[in-house]
Amino acid sequence: MTTLIIAVGSPESNQRWATVFSQLAPDWQIVCWDKVGSTVKADFAVVWRPSTQLFQDQPQLRAIFNVGAGVDGIDFTQVPETVPVYRVEDAGMAVQMAEYAVHGVSLATQRFAPYAEQQQHKNWKQRDPIYRHEWPVGVMGYGQIGQKVAQVLQLLGYPVSVWVRSDRPSPEGIDLFSGPQGLSDFLEQSRILINVLPLTEETRGIINKASLAQLPAQGFVINMARGPHIVDEDLIEAIDSGHLTGALLDVFHVEPLAQDHPFWSHPAIHITPHISGVSLREPTAQQIHSKIKAFLQSEPVSGLVERDRMY
Ligand code: GLV
Repeated sequence: MTTLIIAVGSPESNQRWATVFSQLAPDWQIVCWDKVGSTVKADFAVVWRPSTQLFQDQPQLRAIFNVGAGVDGIDFTQVPETVPVYRVEDAGMAVQMAEYAVHGVSLATQRFAPYAEQQQHKNWKQRDPIYRHEWPVGVMGYGQIGQKVAQVLQLLGYPVSVWVRSDRPSPEGIDLFSGPQGLSDFLEQSRILINVLPLTEETRGIINKASLAQLPAQGFVINMARGPHIVDEDLIEAIDSGHLTGALLDVFHVEPLAQDHPFWSHPAIHITPHISGVSLREPTAQQIHSKIKAFLQSEPVSGLVERDRMY
């Protein structure tokens, strides 16, 4: 019998995931790591930011499935090379993140925010329209999430560029830049910078004093990837100096964001608690279920994490 162990968070959360998997695969044994520890030996693990103790308790795992897109919460030094790790691909996350990006773009352009203030004063005043060509958007990262974000903003009429690690053909209507050599040109035309990169040694701190200085004046930053992509002090400085008008941030170096972090009270920084793309239980479990079935039948399984790239 196939045994699946769930280690995604609190006992309640593990139980909720276990219930969904039990419905999808009534003939599998589904157990929660918080309840069984090392007493049941599982074939597969479903994880989110797992403790390294999981790998000590379950050294026989055949494969690991991450319920999110980013795998930086897994300590790969604890996972034997022979054990493949798969990540969830989209499963309803990309569209949420595209919507979040649109929200960020409308904060940047001030398209709607002033009207809330006006309503307070019963003030009927129509503001100047937005000219989209004045708001070129740059998307860093072009996996399934970046593609959806770019596609939606392109559909809304914004000029869109993307920046990727290695060169590939440009998608229609989108300027594609690649590698370290393409970064400056990309930044120079990204008044709104949107980050959906995976966190790797190469991308850590990529949004820093030097890169922020290359954004056009009156720029805006939207981060929905990982906190350590940004050097926090450099972002604050770029805003306080008047170079950028603000930022929308969903992710932070330490989460929850510390109570005394200056982001909380900065008037031009908008904060959300890591909700730009949440794993939806049913579609995510369905995808993992299909991946495991394919794995068991020795068919190709997509979403394999390449350890040297970390995505
Ligand atoms: C969320 O942050 C994810 O990586 O899926």
